[in-house]
Amino acid sequence: MMRLPVILICFSTVIFAEEFEYLYSTKYIDVPLDHFNFRSNATFKLRYLINDTYHVQRGPIFFYTGNEGDINQFAQNTGFMYDIASTFNALLVFAEHRYYGTSLPFGNLSYTTPEYLGYLSSAQALADFAYLIDDLQSTYAATSDLKKVPVIAFGGSYGGMLAAYLRMKYPYAVAGAVASSAPIWQFRGLTPCENFNRIVTNVYEALGGVKCKDTIAKSWKIIRSLTETDEGKSNLTKLWNFCTPLKTSDDIDTLVDWLTNIYVNVAMVNYPYPTSFLADLPAYPVRAVCSKINNFDYKNDFGLLQALGEALSVYTNYTGRTTCNDIKVAANIGEKGWGFQSCTDMIMPMCSTSFDMFEDAPWDFEKYSDDCYKKFSVRPRNEQVPLLEYGGKDIKSASDIVFSNGLMDPWSSGGVLSNVSDRISAVIIPDAAHHFDLRGANANDPGSVREARRFHVKRIHKWLNKFYFENLDDPLKYKFYETNRV
Ligand SMILES: *[C@@H]1O[C@H](CO)[C@@H](O)[C@H](O)[C@H]1NC(C)=O
Ligand SMILES: *[C@@H]1O[C@H](CO)[C@@H](O)[C@H](O)[C@H]1NC(C)=O
Ligand SMILES: *[C@@H]1O[C@H](CO)[C@@H](O)[C@H](O)[C@H]1NC(C)=O
Ligand SMILES: *[C@@H]1O[C@H](CO)[C@@H](O)[C@H](O)[C@H]1NC(C)=O
Ligand SMILES: *[C@@H]1O[C@H](CO)[C@@H](O)[C@H](O)[C@H]1NC(C)=O
Ligand SMILES: *[C@@H]1O[C@H](CO)[C@@H](O)[C@H](O)[C@H]1NC(C)=O
Repeated sequence: MMRLPVILICFSTVIFAEEFEYLYSTKYIDVPLDHFNFRSNATFKLRYLINDTYHVQRGPIFFYTGNEGDINQFAQNTGFMYDIASTFNALLVFAEHRYYGTSLPFGNLSYTTPEYLGYLSSAQALADFAYLIDDLQSTYAATSDLKKVPVIAFGGSYGGMLAAYLRMKYPYAVAGAVASSAPIWQFRGLTPCENFNRIVTNVYEALGGVKCKDTIAKSWKIIRSLTETDEGKSNLTKLWNFCTPLKTSDDIDTLVDWLTNIYVNVAMVNYPYPTSFLADLPAYPVRAVCSKINNFDYKNDFGLLQALGEALSVYTNYTGRTTCNDIKVAANIGEKGWGFQSCTDMIMPMCSTSFDMFEDAPWDFEKYSDDCYKKFSVRPRNEQVPLLEYGGKDIKSASDIVFSNGLMDPWSSGGVLSNVSDRISAVIIPDAAHHFDLRGANANDPGSVREARRFHVKRIHKWLNKFYFENLDDPLKYKFYETNRV
């Protein structure tokens, strides 16, 4: 069976303005629909969030390069930028990625035809970001001694890839980039397809114990064989409280995807304190999920499924308010958009083998391509689009990027884990999950995450110092920055 593309980040619950912890105002800018074609002047409204409370004239712009989802979600999960804004007198900007949130070029029709959807690509999104930065420069760099202010790109996950790519492709626009959990090497020929699922498995074994990992590994065959009959399907529907009864073998494939996604998501957000964006989750959710399994003394296959049911409820029903489980509501944001990107410029091969806890699923590009055509009427040009576009492992000629990765994050499989050059650094956070260092400071943060954040701050100082030194006419003004910086 082919696995669905795994979405990179999974803040999924709709959040309401009154729950916002971090504040900003919302703005829109008209950006060209197609940056690479002069036949049309069509534009659309790209949304961005802005906070100028900490901003001082000549101060930098901290620019978050939005991901595959509503930008509010990312602003609410990137408290690090807020935490350091006053130190740097920075203006905070969070830019939405086209085709997500409300930045829909054709409104609610954006996803209806390949013709409309064709303007969704990382290259167009980067051009949007550069366009917006240029506009911000004209508003905020209005001093006679400084033609433009420095911009630092920040991003986590796919947004981290974009932060790094923005520095690579538009080096004049950003002075440096902090790319957290950015799997820029999760592509064919750069990373074996099984690495991702193997890390998830290791995380469950290391943090949840062998019994937990083995139970999950054994469950797939049991689920498949139980659901061969209608009676079995109806038993499992009842046992796991599904909203609609399992009926067809497609439903069982959907169920397997749903389960797989849950295990992956739990590993990605395995933070040491409760979080409530993905789903309401306790601290260390891998441990919480596994303790349900470990404490359940099951004797037979049905018992194993009961144990798993309890474990799943940590994710699906932590609040106790879920009435039934809907396996068809994808547990993820931006599903359609990311599905399309996974078929065009972000093909990230994934597979599982007998060495991990998932059901075996080979990588089959031909089949993948056929599925893409069925869903979106497009086919990937080849398996390695991003290599041509972004250089694959050959990134030595780029500069001023920090790649940080938690080793407990499945996406570290495609991350940059060693220093590439003096100016492209890797920060390893042994005990961190996904996008952790970009979150706001918390009393429960491990030392390694605090250290990673200190590394980022030092690098940002370095990039900014260089920028001001090179761009301010008057060295005294440079001192102005130096003395005001901490
Ligand atoms: C900027 O963020 C801080 C912290 O959330 C908040 O106190 C302040 O009101 C915000 N400013 C604006 C202009 O939204
Ligand atoms: C685009 O805008 C320019 C400037 O307003 C105009 O001269 C040109 O004709 C427009 N092109 C198209 C294809 O509409
Ligand atoms: C898009 O929105 C318009 C106006 O709200 C509505 O009439 C139309 O049915 C919607 N179309 C789709 C495809 O959702
Ligand atoms: C379904 O559940 C009933 C009642 O618990 C049990 O008797 C029956 O054997 C189960 N059927 C299957 C296929 O597991
Ligand atoms: C969620 O938990 C509540 C309280 O324990 C329970 O009544 C409800 O049936 C659970 N929902 C599901 C889908 O299991
Ligand atoms: C990369 O170099 C920095 C020093 O510039 C060092 O602190 C860091 O540990 C190195 N990263 C790795 C993964 O070796």
